[in-house]
Amino acid sequence: MDDAGSVVVLTGAGVSAESGVPTFRGEDGLWRNFRAEELATPGAFARDAKLVWEWYQWRRELVAACKPNPGHEFIARLEREHRGDFLLVTQNVDGLHRLAGSSKLVEVHGDIWQVRCTSCGSSREDRTLPFPELPPKCDGCGGLLRPGVVWFGEALPEEAIGRAFAAANSCDLMLVVGTSAVVYPVAYLPELAKDAGAYVIEVNPDETPLTPRADESWRGKAGEVLGGLL
Ligand code: APR
Repeated sequence: MDDAGSVVVLTGAGVSAESGVPTFRGEDGLWRNFRAEELATPGAFARDAKLVWEWYQWRRELVAACKPNPGHEFIARLEREHRGDFLLVTQNVDGLHRLAGSSKLVEVHGDIWQVRCTSCGSSREDRTLPFPELPPKCDGCGGLLRPGVVWFGEALPEEAIGRAFAAANSCDLMLVVGTSAVVYPVAYLPELAKDAGAYVIEVNPDETPLTPRADESWRGKAGEVLGGLL
């Protein structure tokens, strides 16, 4: 892997599964019988901000108790030791890659520890747990706060997704770890990398829509497969 000039690692919820963070799809992804697609939307927040915040507060509590696993550690080490260009593109909002030491990364779906005011637009890190009342309010203007994440139907942060697409378009190797590869536009990244001639390796215990196009599929859990390479 060290020979590859430019490396992009793309991760999804599966890389954090062995840390104890539930994935979004499949049995584990259900919360009080809701699916992520029913809660992570501007419409759901407009209808019932308290319910949506209860879900995020539950996830914040879960994530706060979790630590990076050997999958995160392998990716951080790859960044440190690789001599060419490197970029980690993560769909995860849990911050575990940064905790593991990754620094060349873009969090294209935001960060669960950020909050943004729906009235004045200010955003900041807020690790309050639990909030004294839900939904929480802005200290500055009293407006309704929302989680600093990207919901279904919303645009991704322009700078982050721009960097991700540029890197995918020019990488030699893409490692795709723990994503169901069904949520766009991120699911385009491996397609783009393949079309541009990159070698694509998938790490996932299950098949995904990407599998037929991947050059190699390493079937297994990220922490075990990548941890084994450490
Ligand atoms: N190691 C690697 N992969 C795993 C592991 C593991 N230990 N456990 C599960 N997986 C795989 C599953 O097989 C699945 O393909 O991780 C994937 C998780 O898929 P999703 O739950 O769909 O998560 P993700 O791909 O990150 O979802 C994309 O959807 O809900 C939105 O914004 C949210 O960023 C998220 C986006």
